[in-house]
Amino acid sequence: MNTTRRFARRLTHLALATALAATGLPLAWAGTVSGPLAQAVAKGKDIFAHDTFGGGRGMTCQSCHTAGGTTAGTTPSGAKIPSLSNAAAIFPRYAHGQLVTLEDQVRRCVAGALGGKPPAYDSQQMRDLVAYMTSLSQGKPINMGGKPQ
Ligand code: HEC
Repeated sequence: MNTTRRFARRLTHLALATALAATGLPLAWAGTVSGPLAQAVAKGKDIFAHDTFGGGRGMTCQSCHTAGGTTAGTTPSGAKIPSLSNAAAIFPRYAHGQLVTLEDQVRRCVAGALGGKPPAYDSQQMRDLVAYMTSLSQGKPINMGGKPQ
């Protein structure tokens, strides 16, 4: 292939990638997960929607993080909170003089917001929740310390 044709092909790929990115859909080659990984994501999604972590308030993650965290949420007091759609791409972050990982944040939300017993760092629940939240960020650029979308 001569250089001009190769250049033209590159341009076509670039145009396609740009068009795809403009739709807001994750780039096709970022990959969707399957098999056991998809099962972990599904399990995490279920925990997110249904588990109260023994909290007396009967709340789940979804009570505040609306629609599985895919859209902006609302706390019981009516405060707006950002979606979790890029959460896995912006952690860890530095907040209040501490390094905070995604797992730390999950435990904070369970203990504080939800009033429940936080899942252990090495628990299956934590792994499934992290798998689910990471799936929401699939294809998004890592932007450690960045702003939630
Ligand atoms: C009672 C409401 C409430 C519940 C229930 C709750 N959260 Fe949160 N969550 C919040 C608030 C408030 C924030 C901070 C939002 C902000 O940065 O202003 C937050 C932040 C987060 C963040 C960081 C988002 C970001 O990008 O800054 C993650 C991740 C998260 N929550 C996960 C969870 C998970 C997982 C659960 C369930 C185990 C859960 N939350 C339950 C209220 C809640």
